[in-house]
Amino acid sequence: MEQYLPYVQRLESLLHADCASSPEWLSAAECALDGEPSRELRRLVDLASRRADGTFFTGSKLAQRLITNSPAATARADLIFDPTCGAGDLLLAGARRFPVIKSSLRKTLRNWGQRIAGLDKHAHFVRATRARLAILAISQGAKPDLDDAEELTELLPFLSVGDALATSSLAQTADWLLLNPPFQSTPVPPDCRWATGSITSAALFLAHVTNAACQDTTISAILPDVLRSGSRYKAWREAITSQVCVQGLSRFGVFDQSADIDVFLLHLAKNGGKKGTPWLRCPASTPRKGQTVGAFFVVHVGPVVPHRHKDRGPASPYVHAKSLPRWVEFEPGAETLRFSGRLFKPPFVVVRRTSRTGDPKRAVATLITGVQPVAVENHLIVMVPTDGSIKICRKLMGALESPKTDEWLDRRICCRHLTVSAVAHLPFWGIKT
Ligand SMILES: C[S@@+](CC[C@H](N)C(=O)[O-])C[C@H]1O[C@@H](n2cnc3c(N)ncnc32)[C@H](O)[C@@H]1O
Repeated sequence: MEQYLPYVQRLESLLHADCASSPEWLSAAECALDGEPSRELRRLVDLASRRADGTFFTGSKLAQRLITNSPAATARADLIFDPTCGAGDLLLAGARRFPVIKSSLRKTLRNWGQRIAGLDKHAHFVRATRARLAILAISQGAKPDLDDAEELTELLPFLSVGDALATSSLAQTADWLLLNPPFQSTPVPPDCRWATGSITSAALFLAHVTNAACQDTTISAILPDVLRSGSRYKAWREAITSQVCVQGLSRFGVFDQSADIDVFLLHLAKNGGKKGTPWLRCPASTPRKGQTVGAFFVVHVGPVVPHRHKDRGPASPYVHAKSLPRWVEFEPGAETLRFSGRLFKPPFVVVRRTSRTGDPKRAVATLITGVQPVAVENHLIVMVPTDGSIKICRKLMGALESPKTDEWLDRRICCRHLTVSAVAHLPFWGIKT
């Protein structure tokens, strides 16, 4: 992250005493406190390096929302700690609650220094955090009286360079942990009991701080939505919720323009051994037994993977997501494919797997008719009626088009693909059992 140094020096140059009330200073400070560190990061550091460490800074709006929505916002927090602090956006949002001693920046920071802790593996980010906290204090009225930016290290002693996964001491002493950890994929450590293969690093960071935190510590985190909704993180959710009470959970949507990933905000309280809240998902209403799509249809993912397809076997009618007409009954045959894998005999319903929260229609469907077995591409989910009738397929088309389906799927699943399990658990609106 050496490329970030010129920007850090620019931040430090704003601490000079003689210019803090000029319009130029005020406008530079406003940028430094709101989004500029992230823009400069994108300008100065290439995407591969940013991705390698999961370095994406939180915008001030989202950071503020995390702080104000937390139950800790109204309680006294003596020490806030961000174990992966980056350029300090979450700490800045937390510091806005602390008192400013107008007569002196030094005195203000000495006070804040006992209340604010942060770690990051990159030294330039820690330096940027210190400088920005000082800029925040000046912009809130503290009189600049530092001799040198180097003084900041002594005034803010709990901001340091380190590996958050290799230390627990600050997490054990803080009473409010703020977290927007790296999200990149990482191999599961050998002693992990809740996953195998690769996982999002965010799962490791949250598990680490949750284990380390003391009783009654609040943890407020920005996390990738897959941790809330993904079935492969069920054991992780159970491991977390065995130690905490879930005090709040809200979905946010896409993190920002530079990181197109859905996130949610989570507020936890460590409850030291008391039984935890069992569930981290946003509740999506659970249909009565026997009233789900899965009670009437067998749900599959289409088996044809175009880029791996070998063009062997007998020719069959072929359906794929790109060319299939929507919301109609359709008899395939014009397009065929030589395929030796599983075929599906009509009638059946397919929906496109690609589906995002907020799309006007989450489960865009087509009813496949005809007599010949059909090859289906893997961007489609196939629903084969257990009674073999076209009548129930038509009922399902109506249920899928209902706004209630869109609302239910928006609550149930936020990743970009519908899953077999979400479709099978979907309530079959209007069906009589
Ligand atoms: C997603 S950014 C978030 C930064 C900051 N919390 C915010 O909300 O703007 C994650 C940060 O974690 C840092 N990081 C990555 N791995 C780390 C580790 N093992 N220990 C400490 N910091 C780490 C990165 O350098 C990066 O600044």
